[in-house]
Amino acid sequence: MVDMLEQYRSIFDRHLQEILAQYNCDIQPIAEALKYGISNGGKRIRPILCYMGAELCGKDVDFVKNLAVGIEMIHSYSLVHDDLPCMDDDSLRRGKPTMHIVYGEGMAVLAGDALLNCAFEVMLGDGNFDSDMRKAMVYIAKNTGINGMIGGQCLDLANETKSDFGLEELTLLNSLKTSCLIKCALVGSVIRCGASKEQIKAAEVYSENIGQIFQLVDDILDRTSSSQQLGKDVNRDEANGKKSIVDIIGMESALNYIDKLEKQAIDEIDIFRERSLNLKTLCKFLSNRTA
Ligand code: IPE
Ligand code: IPE
Ligand code: MG
Ligand code: MG
Ligand code: MG
Repeated sequence: MVDMLEQYRSIFDRHLQEILAQYNCDIQPIAEALKYGISNGGKRIRPILCYMGAELCGKDVDFVKNLAVGIEMIHSYSLVHDDLPCMDDDSLRRGKPTMHIVYGEGMAVLAGDALLNCAFEVMLGDGNFDSDMRKAMVYIAKNTGINGMIGGQCLDLANETKSDFGLEELTLLNSLKTSCLIKCALVGSVIRCGASKEQIKAAEVYSENIGQIFQLVDDILDRTSSSQQLGKDVNRDEANGKKSIVDIIGMESALNYIDKLEKQAIDEIDIFRERSLNLKTLCKFLSNRTA
């Protein structure tokens, strides 16, 4: 699995370099900050999902190049803003100082905005822009907006002060703040590759479940792992007054719950038959990840 992820990551690095090489800006330090936000490592799970989406539909990974780079730019913008002092107030990201530590808060706001604009410029600039691509773009714009990722970040801020915050509230929060962008990656990609309604639905249910898993594991690692291992500060959720799955149902039930979500995701993706193998392996990997 690790080798497979590395292979996908090197494809992403190639795609990113190709796209950044075409993107010129002489205004500093914003041009440099934009590159800092996207080039500084990361697990690249979302572009990997874009590539796996293309392969589910029998297409080559290069077919979703612009989508993969665009989605990772949106993800990177969300992290730059998430780390700001007015949000989670973090100083370490992907093993390096966060954007506002390096460039200051004002520039970090602008760098996040710039990554978002650049994402849409890249995706809209796809050389094969057709009606499937248009559909994918609408899906992505919607799922990263106020009824998607931004809405989730809004609920997350509210979680800091809410006392009646249970599993239902956490599931909605995680669905919006994390599953929605994961959906943009996989579902956006299969829509772009001409998938049927039934296939799109299956990819959506899979993405919803692995998004939940991804965020639950992220929350667990925040309290059980180290900053060296994760490349970001730990014990931050508690410090920010955020309730996690462990506070709500305890660690053992949380791990059983993750197993249940894993099974749901894997069952759902079965309709793609042998092409679903990589996504099944990825799901298991994400449930058991330690970084
Ligand atoms: C962090 O995402 C934000 C969450 C949704 C938990 P990742 O853990 O994918 O961050 P990178 O891209 O690997 O740094
Ligand atoms: C971030 O969730 C989710 C988004 C940026 C949309 P977290 O706040 O848990 O992510 P980390 O732990 O800072 O990476
Ligand atoms: Mg946050
Ligand atoms: Mg955070
Ligand atoms: Mg976290």
